[in-house]
Amino acid sequence: MSASIREIPSAEAPMALLLLADPSERKVRAYLPATRCFAALLDGGIAGVCAVVPLGPGRHELMNIAVDPARQQRGIGARLLAHVIDTYRREGAERLEVGTGTFGYQLAFYQRHGFRVFQVERDFFLRHYDEAIIEHGIQHRDMLRLAIDYREGP
Ligand SMILES: CC(C)(COP(=O)(O)OP(=O)(O)OC[C@H]1O[C@@H](n2cnc3c(N)ncnc32)[C@H](O)[C@@H]1OP(=O)(O)O)[C@@H](O)C(=O)NCCC(=O)NCCS
Repeated sequence: MSASIREIPSAEAPMALLLLADPSERKVRAYLPATRCFAALLDGGIAGVCAVVPLGPGRHELMNIAVDPARQQRGIGARLLAHVIDTYRREGAERLEVGTGTFGYQLAFYQRHGFRVFQVERDFFLRHYDEAIIEHGIQHRDMLRLAIDYREGP
C-alpha cells in the first residue's frame, strides 16, 4: 500500500520522527509552531513528516523531513519531498531552502529533487548543537545551504 500525503497541524507532528532529522529537541520545539507540516500516512499512522517555515515573502525553508526507520528506503521520503516541492510551486513560491550536512545520502536526496547549493555555513553544527553529530564516523561541522529557485524553472 502506498502512503498518502496530507497537511497536519504542527502540534500533531510526531516528535520521535522530527528528532531523526534534528537531534536537538529544544531547537525543534522552538521552530515547530511556526511551521506548516505535511505527513505521509500509511496503515492509519504517520510514517513520515516534513516541516516548512516561512522565511519572508515568497521564501520558505524546509526545516525537517523524516521517515520512520522501519519504513525508510521505500520511496516514502521521495514522495513526501516531491509533494512539498510541488505544493510550494503551485502556490507561487519563489524559493524553497534547506540546510543539510556536507556529506551523506541526504545531500544526494535533496539534489536529486532539484536543490542546488548556494552557501556554506562553516562550523554551523559545532556552534548550534551541544552534542557532536557523527555519521559514518565523520563529525558534521559545516552546513550546506541549498535552494530550489522556482523562478529559474525546473
Ligand atoms: C532522508 C529520509 C527522509 C529519506 O526518506 P526515505 O523514505 O528513506 O527515502 P526514499 O526511500 O524515498 O529514498 C530516497 C533516496 O535516499 C536513499 N536513502 C534513504 N535512506 C538511506 C540510507 N539510510 N542510506 C543510504 N541511502 C539512503 C535511498 O536509497 C534513495 O536513493 P535512490 O533514489 O538513489 O534510490 C530518511 O532516510 C530519514 O528519515 N532519514 C533520517 C532523518 C534525516 O536525515 N532527514 C534529513 C535531514 S537533512
